Amino acid sequence: MSFTKKRVAFLAGISASLLGSLFIINSASANTKANDKSIHHISASVCKTCHKETYKQWKGSMHANSTAFNDPIHGTFYRKVVGDPGKEGVKMKNGKYPVCLQCHAPNAAKDKVTKLDSKPAYAEGVNCIACHTLKTFKGTKGKNGKLNLGLKAYEYTDKIQGTGRNSNHLLSNLTAGGDEFGFTDGDDDKKPNPHLGKSVTVDGKEIPALPMESNPKQLRTSDACMGCHDKRNNSHGVPLCATGDEYISSNAKADCLSCHMPTTGGKSDHSMGGGHSLAMLQRSVVFYMESKKEGNMIKSVVTMQNKQPHTMPTGAPFRNLYLKVTAYDKTGNVVWENAKGHPGKTDKKAFLKLTLVDADGKPTGPPTAKGQGKDTRLKAFEKRDLNYEIPAKDVVLVRAELYYNLLWPGLVKKFSKKIPADVTAPKLIATSENAL
Ligand code: HEC
Ligand code: HEC
Ligand code: HEC
Ligand code: HEC
Ligand code: HEC
Repeated sequence: MSFTKKRVAFLAGISASLLGSLFIINSASANTKANDKSIHHISASVCKTCHKETYKQWKGSMHANSTAFNDPIHGTFYRKVVGDPGKEGVKMKNGKYPVCLQCHAPNAAKDKVTKLDSKPAYAEGVNCIACHTLKTFKGTKGKNGKLNLGLKAYEYTDKIQGTGRNSNHLLSNLTAGGDEFGFTDGDDDKKPNPHLGKSVTVDGKEIPALPMESNPKQLRTSDACMGCHDKRNNSHGVPLCATGDEYISSNAKADCLSCHMPTTGGKSDHSMGGGHSLAMLQRSVVFYMESKKEGNMIKSVVTMQNKQPHTMPTGAPFRNLYLKVTAYDKTGNVVWENAKGHPGKTDKKAFLKLTLVDADGKPTGPPTAKGQGKDTRLKAFEKRDLNYEIPAKDVVLVRAELYYNLLWPGLVKKFSKKIPADVTAPKLIATSENAL
């Protein structure tokens, strides 16, 4: 069947009033904005027209909040080491285009733009198009030992990359009975499908043609994530994050999608939670304590088992966990605790973190680090016991609490005026209680 015949058949299927609005919009497209055909300038709000539920999940994720405007932690570091996200021509100290944007604002990086509020598609950070136009993962290993980061680790295209479920349309394009409509989420109505190569109109809104290719190799494997999540070094070559390396050396067979994109409501969940998601943190560690009285002492063993094929915590180097163990008397008064307040100084084994160090081996922040110090985070799949001996006198209850913190305590203090307290506050992610 010819291209035009199909187009006519499709147009005949929509109402006269819709047709009217189609022409009005077409004539208005003389202005430059409507003529901008670049796929990486298409905002997520266009996809929202038909993919409402997926949009909602994405909107609440850190992918939608990955730029310096929306993420106060990234924003604080970005302004400190790079500059103003609202200005054009911002450069890093080495005179180069900010590498951060290859991952945190990939659509802006494609245009080498640094004024991130100059287009919605830039300010949206890792939006629908950013992921769904990645075609092939080339690996992060670049020339001369350099890393290819974010977009640079991929070949990308101007066609939407699909999973292979509803993205193979060649046969239906050949046959007269091809369905021009399909079901999308959050809506019982069938929607016209813009992925067949033509623009369509929905509720009076013109949707540009969003041609699609089937690419399960990229979309159904960890390749979809690795370009941005494999690893990243600072300017001194010190690894700041290595989720991908951790995953590879764990020899796990389940990929990132099996946990981070489960199926909900018949669709792949795009919430992609991690350190900012309490629900995800609560399921990350199997946490329990067993206590028994021996003479005038209580012996408590706290067990932490990392369920992930990457460290816990993984990702940014300042993520950390700490453990509080407290013994109470029968009126609920504290009679013993593993540390007064944070255990970082007095019960070091209860503080799980990566330490970055300067040339003298002293702890320092990510931009200035010259090496890695101690790493006490839970390795992939690691099960670890921590032992405590507690004087038994008056004790009726021992309680263990596991906390997650996005930032090291020192950074929380340092940035207390810049980052809201609810973001930097430790989150209680697991508890265990033993009555004696
Ligand atoms: C971080 C990358 C990423 C972002 C951002 C992203 N997607 Fe996806 N999307 C994927 C991957 C990977 C899959 C395949 C999941 C699978 O099948 O295992 C997918 C699958 C889909 C599917 C297939 C149907 C389904 O639910 O299984 C649709 C539709 C979709 N995405 C739409 C969107 C829309 C709309 C947005 C923006 C609101 C978006 N995606 C943002 C990576 C992303
Ligand atoms: C006018 C409605 C409409 C808009 C707007 C729209 N889509 Fe779709 N999309 C569809 C329909 C219809 C399907 C097919 C679903 C089916 O057949 O059940 C689909 C399917 C998909 C799939 C899944 C294909 C597969 O099986 O893997 C992806 C991915 C996708 N769209 C991405 C996007 C992205 C990204 C945008 C925004 C740039 C977007 N869509 C905008 C209607 C739309
Ligand atoms: C284009 C780069 C890019 C791709 C591709 C990408 N991500 Fe991300 N992802 C990011 C950035 C940037 C952040 C950090 C945003 C922030 O915290 O400012 C992030 C954050 C996350 C987080 C942390 C969320 C939290 O709560 O802190 C998870 C989990 C995640 N991504 C999973 C995935 C998975 C799974 C895939 C593959 C399907 C994927 N990402 C693909 C760039 C990307
Ligand atoms: C067995 C399930 C599972 C698998 C498989 C898995 N993750 Fe995770 N991931 C989690 C859980 C649970 C968390 C929250 C705890 C944490 O931060 O470690 C998490 C956290 C994260 C974070 C958040 C880091 C931050 O700073 O907030 C990122 C990024 C991430 N995962 C990426 C990946 C990537 C990339 C893969 C594949 C290579 C992957 N994960 C595979 C379960 C999984
Ligand atoms: C290779 C991709 C990549 C590059 C390049 C990159 N980041 Fe990130 N960044 C991520 C990902 C992915 C996360 C979130 C998951 C994690 O913690 O690993 C993240 C998280 C962060 C966070 C923590 C955000 C939060 O909400 O806690 C900060 C701060 C940050 N990045 C700053 C920067 C700065 C500044 C630059 C540039 C100098 C930069 N990043 C370059 C991928 C990248």
